[in-house]
Amino acid sequence: MNPAPTQQSADLFQRARTVTPGGVNSPVRAFSAVGGTPRFIRSARGAWLTDVDGNDYVDLICSWGPMLLGHAHPEVQAAVAEAVARGTSYGTPTEPEVELAEEIVARTPVDTVRFVSSGTEATMSAIRLARGFTGRDLVVKFAGCYHGHVDALLAEAGSGLATLGVPGTPGVPDSATALTLVLPYHDREAVSRAFAEHGDRIACLITEAAPGNMGVVPPEPGFNEFLARTCADHGALFVSDEVMTGFRASRHGQWGLDGATEGWRPDLVTFGKVMGGGFPAAAFGGRAEVMARLAPEGPVYQAGTLSGNPVATTAGLTTLRLADDGVYEHLTKVGEVIKEAAASALSAAGVPHVVQSTGTMFSVFFTDRPVRDFAGAASQDTAAFARFFHAMLEGGVYLPPSAYEAWFLSAAHDDRAVQTVLDALPAAARAAAEGAGR
Ligand SMILES: Cc1ncc(COP(=O)(O)O)c(C=O)c1O
Repeated sequence: MNPAPTQQSADLFQRARTVTPGGVNSPVRAFSAVGGTPRFIRSARGAWLTDVDGNDYVDLICSWGPMLLGHAHPEVQAAVAEAVARGTSYGTPTEPEVELAEEIVARTPVDTVRFVSSGTEATMSAIRLARGFTGRDLVVKFAGCYHGHVDALLAEAGSGLATLGVPGTPGVPDSATALTLVLPYHDREAVSRAFAEHGDRIACLITEAAPGNMGVVPPEPGFNEFLARTCADHGALFVSDEVMTGFRASRHGQWGLDGATEGWRPDLVTFGKVMGGGFPAAAFGGRAEVMARLAPEGPVYQAGTLSGNPVATTAGLTTLRLADDGVYEHLTKVGEVIKEAAASALSAAGVPHVVQSTGTMFSVFFTDRPVRDFAGAASQDTAAFARFFHAMLEGGVYLPPSAYEAWFLSAAHDDRAVQTVLDALPAAARAAAEGAGR
């Protein structure tokens, strides 16, 4: 088989690098961890991406989560086209904002919700609100959890930084992270100790509802409940970051898999990705009493020129309305097939691996032990993943170019797409095995 032509992507990458740092507008898009040239995508439909050289790939990135229904969904496109025809931004309140907020409130444990334009803004604002509400300054987070590139949260922050092999980032002053306590995920003792020592200064604990940015690490049963109760016992807020898991891990996000049945709810929740339907829209919401502290109702200031943009909220609303039980059943079914095939191909090739999931979200770790925390995720054979990644790409499957990421599916991943993934797996597993032990 001749390798697929990639000249036009290579040319664009070259041009991009002269005008954009690293040639990309978000570091994970570069192939820094796997080597080679990122493909420049010209168009996408359903489960498929088409690059500028005309190669087709089954998309297992799905825009890093948002494209739950697949690309260019006709009903989302039509709703967006209608919204665009009415005008693209007014800087006044609009009906789609109200409808999307109602949809989110109906599906999640929040009473009210405020829209922003990115997940980063959502977590940044949630933390400000938690500090404003409690009058305290410390924030607790877990190593390996990523909450966007918020200064205070860029301490041991999972995939993007792990992919680049850096623990933190220059440009974030010590004073910004000095107020952040970073604990190992799943370490109840460390959480109890931190609250025993600093409980009266802790404004909030923020966690990914289920970590997806060190690969998928399902919270052990009762862990989120323990966090929620510990926060409540100390007058701190529990902030559940559902930017990735929201409307994806289940119809009701990760909370639908734990809090909804265990009988607790977070004080604040952040959302993004799926709720924007492929547009820049995100949100944070929570208990009415806490949210009422936000301007203009309360004194905690937060704002945004394009927040609740009518085109973005229309895309998100249409996506959520279409994301019914059938969509999640499909994601579960297709996920099972791909997980099983990946595991059996890697086993057949003798490649150590662990497949982990929460709801409809999953990832494959290139390690031989179940991963409970970032130290476990970091024990992966990233070189084996890089070989696997390139062989999958050669087989027409575009995986996230990092061993620390979830593999994302959509409602549009049909039999043909799945078969392409299944066909690519054996050779990719053999490629991963090559060079092992050297
Ligand atoms: C859990 C989580 N929180 C926050 C963010 C930041 O969102 P954004 O990239 O929209 O700023 C991400 C992005 O991947 C995320 O996965």
